[in-house]
Amino acid sequence: PQQKAVDGVITAPEQALNVFDFEPAAKKALPPAHYGYLASGVDGDETLRLNHEAYDDIAIRVRRLIDVRKIDTSVTLFGETFSTPIMLAPVSSQGAFHAEAEAAVARAAKVKGNNFILSTVGSTSIEDVIAERGGPCWYMLYPTDDWSVTEALVKRAEAAGAPAIVLTVDRQGGRNTETLFRFRRDDTRDCKGCHAGGFANEVSRKPMFDDLDVSKVTNLYGTGMTWEFVDRLRKIVKGKLVLKGIVTREDAEIALKHGVDAIIVSNHGGRAEESLEPTIRALPEVVAAVDGKIPVLIDGGIRRGTDVLKALALGATAICIGRPYCWGLAAFGEPGVAAVLAILQREFETIMKQVGATRIAEITKDSVMVRA
Ligand code: FNR
Repeated sequence: PQQKAVDGVITAPEQALNVFDFEPAAKKALPPAHYGYLASGVDGDETLRLNHEAYDDIAIRVRRLIDVRKIDTSVTLFGETFSTPIMLAPVSSQGAFHAEAEAAVARAAKVKGNNFILSTVGSTSIEDVIAERGGPCWYMLYPTDDWSVTEALVKRAEAAGAPAIVLTVDRQGGRNTETLFRFRRDDTRDCKGCHAGGFANEVSRKPMFDDLDVSKVTNLYGTGMTWEFVDRLRKIVKGKLVLKGIVTREDAEIALKHGVDAIIVSNHGGRAEESLEPTIRALPEVVAAVDGKIPVLIDGGIRRGTDVLKALALGATAICIGRPYCWGLAAFGEPGVAAVLAILQREFETIMKQVGATRIAEITKDSVMVRA
């Protein structure tokens, strides 16, 4: 039976009309520090806000009188076909959002449907994620400053069946997550179980580091990392190597020279730096620099099927979402994640039909118009 929404906050996934409906429900379900962790950008959260708002500067050019009763949203990446270009970005410590954490997400993100990228600092091991999912996922790597730890993480992920290693390169200089700090300050609970970072507490448990000697790890995020590290990693990665966090043509060109297999245009959902450069604005220069040689993915601020279409029209092969699926997870667990994915997919198919595209390849730069 349908429960009624209380005070405008949905109480069951079926009540959601769009993915935004899940955020207040997540906020209600979570302790303040955990919600603050999910919601936060850096400094004044302007880049976070612009990531989404910049999609409003792009209009869609619709086409008429095309038979779109049957459409195909599948994309092929690294030889694997997914039924949708909507993928799940790596998000750390999902135990902070729901007891079932990444396991719930892995089940909701179907193997041949939504690709899933597991974070190094996830609350679930890659073996468990792959078992829950019944198939592979990509593994996102924070490099650490101890090569033996880094190498062990990569070997473990590949042995478990990860076809791609995603190196995140946008966390060099520390960050000012003011919104998190504010919510944490307001969290009156004993903070044993709340999001405090580090390896220690139950929410921050990171199973990928179990059985590893992390005593020499002084930095997880790769401070001081250069392209030499990418070369070193390239030599040990047997599958595909993806760089996440590239936002300029200069870096895209260098990435090509270093044998990278794909790029994710990302500013960490506005959590890396307050650049005021939304990722959708950075996408065209990266796509131009890459010139079709490797796939380019994008994340940041994608909240509507129309956003997905706009990103693909501007040259992305696929897109990732971060916060929206975590809102679903926090509010309702696996059914919440499944509902978020279903809503985005439905919206995307609706707008695909309106632009007259029966398959992804028919979404082109002519499908959109960028306003000055
Ligand atoms: C992230 N993101 C992230 N990225 C990454 O490479 N490794 C990680 O461990 C994390 N952890 C993480 C935690 C939380 C709470 C958030 C919100 C984000 C960034 C993520 O992969 C992605 O780039 C953004 O979330 C995309 O933006 P939206 O969809 O959240 O706007």
